[in-house]
Amino acid sequence: MTDIARPARRTVMCASALLGSSALLTACGNGESVAPNPTPGQVPQPAGEAQTVLPLTDLPEKARAQVVAKDPATGEEIGVLLFRKDAKTVLAYSSICTHQGCAVTPKSSKNDFYCACHGSRLSPADGSATAGPAIEALPRYACEIKGKDIVVYLGEA
Ligand code: FES
Repeated sequence: MTDIARPARRTVMCASALLGSSALLTACGNGESVAPNPTPGQVPQPAGEAQTVLPLTDLPEKARAQVVAKDPATGEEIGVLLFRKDAKTVLAYSSICTHQGCAVTPKSSKNDFYCACHGSRLSPADGSATAGPAIEALPRYACEIKGKDIVVYLGEA
């Protein structure tokens, strides 16, 4: 049995086309080996519109999922990774890999987030890179449980 939530709608199969070449470019371009940075990003304060991304019942405890939300600045859909840490806590991250911008997914045999482009692994608990070539943590989004839904905030604090 898998712990990956399978939302009926809003599931993102692959967001790489949306990510484009202007996505984050980080390290490893010169062939040097760099250890992953275990420092996670800070969780921002909720700002802007609360966007409902998934019914809470679609994300059991310890499950991971990928959903889409709207960038408030551009209106474009962007991938968001979710992790239900416990009954009352859901964490949200950008799905753009900090290595070269591919789509990170919750589809992994190791209960983590995985980037198939070059094999980076990222922690659902804090977004930090646990295996390279990515060395930086995934950017975080404010996220909360509101009633029966999971909402994220993509606005600037
Ligand atoms: S883009 Fe290289 S590991 Fe994700």
